[in-house]
Order: sequence, then C-alpha cells, then structure tokens
Amino acid sequence: MPSLNDIRSTFLDYFRRNGHQVVDSSPLVPRNDPTLMFTNSGMVQFKNLFTGVERRDYVRATTAQKCVRAGGKHNDLDNVGYTARHHTFFEMLGNFSFGDYFKSDAIPFAWELLTKDFAIPKDKLLVTVYHTDDEAAGIWKKVAGLPDERIIRIPTDDNFWRMGPTGPCGPCTEIFFDHGDHIWGGPPGSKDEDGDRFIEIWNLVFMQNEQMPDGSLRVLDMQSIDTGMGLERIGALLQGKHDNYDTDLMRSLIEASANATSTDPDGPGKVHHRVIADHLRSTSFLIADGVMPSNEGRGYVLRRIMRRAMPMPTSWARRTR
Ligand code: GLY
Repeated sequence: MPSLNDIRSTFLDYFRRNGHQVVDSSPLVPRNDPTLMFTNSGMVQFKNLFTGVERRDYVRATTAQKCVRAGGKHNDLDNVGYTARHHTFFEMLGNFSFGDYFKSDAIPFAWELLTKDFAIPKDKLLVTVYHTDDEAAGIWKKVAGLPDERIIRIPTDDNFWRMGPTGPCGPCTEIFFDHGDHIWGGPPGSKDEDGDRFIEIWNLVFMQNEQMPDGSLRVLDMQSIDTGMGLERIGALLQGKHDNYDTDLMRSLIEASANATSTDPDGPGKVHHRVIADHLRSTSFLIADGVMPSNEGRGYVLRRIMRRAMPMPTSWARRTR
C-alpha cells in the first residue's frame, strides 16, 4: 500500500519526467496578495504568471502545495470532523503550464498518471466538463475512450474555477471515481450528487480568463493549465479507504490524540480526534508561516481553529470569544 509520501513522490516524479520544474510549496500567507487570506490552492504562487505580469525561466511546473481553506471563498472549517473529506489544512498536488501546453496535453497527462502510474481501473473513472466545452469533451473521448454518458456536461460554477473574487479563472474538467453502487450517491450534476458514491479526485482548470474587480471577465493573452488534486483524497483511494482520515498520515495523528487522552480513536470521541488531527496541522503550519493568534484577520481565523481543537475552561472561553 503506498504511503501519502510515496504518492506525493510519484506525482512529482511523473511531471518532472514530463518536463516540469518541481517547485517548492509557497507559504500559507500569500506573498503580495491582499485579496486572499490564505493560500487555498496550488496556483496561488503562480497567479502573476497566468496573467502575464511575471515571467520565470520555466513554463511548466509541478508542486505539492500546502493549503488552508478556513476563510474567504473556499472555507471548510465548520465541516471538519463530520465528513470524510473536509480539512482546514491539506496538500494539493498540481501541474501547471504557463502559456505552454493546454487541454490536448493536460488531459492525456492526467489520464496516464491515474490509469498507469496509479493503476486506477479505467472503468471506475468518469469526468465532467463545462457545458459549452466541446473541445475538452472531444479530447476525453479520444484519449480515454470514455462514452458520452461518462463525460457529463455541467452548466454551473462547479465547472468554472475561480481562485477568489478576483484573479485568474477558467472552465474546468473534473475527474471522478465511482466507488460502486453499494454506496449511496448519484453522478455529478444529479440530485444525489452529494452522496459518497462518486468522488471528485482531480480538477483540471483551463486558465483563460481573469475575473476583474468590476465583475467583468477578461480574456487572458495566453492559455494555461492549473490542476489540483488533494493528496489526502487520492491517498484514501489508493490506500483502499473511503475516508481521508483513515490514511496513514491522518491516522497517526488521530492515534496520537487517542493515546494522549487514553481514549478509543474510533469511540465516542471520534469526531474530536479528527478535529484535533486536522486543526493540529493547520495550526502548526500557520504558526510556522508567521501567523499568530489575534483578534483580526488571519490571526483571528487561527485563533478560531485553535479554540475548536482545544478544551478550555468555560470562563476563559467566554473572555476570549
Ligand atoms: N486550482 C484548482 C483547484 O483548486 O481545484
């Protein structure tokens, strides 16, 4: 069974072999970007490359980016502990093209990695595309041989990815894994899509627009690629689990929490152990990246995360609210 560390290496090595520069994760506090509270996806450190404001000496990159989704447009704080797949802190695996390759290479890259290197059975995979994106649908048909019913057209923002209220954005294609009809849930776009049967594992964004502060959508000068795959989510799949919190890295934190409190990791305190495991990660990485608990902004979000994970006397909790 591959560990999350093995899976991260397989992903980065695959894209390195395919001409991508392996770039370090950027800090959780975005540099020079007051529009974002925390780095919420792999593309944040490359925002100015997509808009053409900045150039570097590479046009293809791959990263394992630390992300926090606990404030702003992407906020998962209140779901943590209760669901199988929400985290405040997670790692996002991604590959990026800055005006280099576009859809006709990004889709085959993803398909090859999933079905060859990760050996995921092809008949378990299905995809969504933005409803007007005939080109992406055609590439999926040709490259993966997917029948029309496994290329689902979605007319909503679920298939138009935005970093935040402003910034680079574009239509996207999402890859889903079908866990089988013994698990409740419907395909993406159906009324039962929130069930656990069909799980999104990878999002490929075709960066071609910029959302402007006045609400308009600018067409970018170059067409680029931004993808995001949650390490914990693909890890659960490749480790034969249905719950991200059962993967090796999360499980070791849950067991440490259970040991420290002499309780059963899967007993009545199960939700608490999961919250502690998740919030320990976001708290540690936020503090390491220079955020301190405070009454406003990023520091306030950090304080909220810490308070959710730490038991404290009621009187003190009231005073610090
Ligand atoms: N930037 C792509 C994603 O977060 O899904």
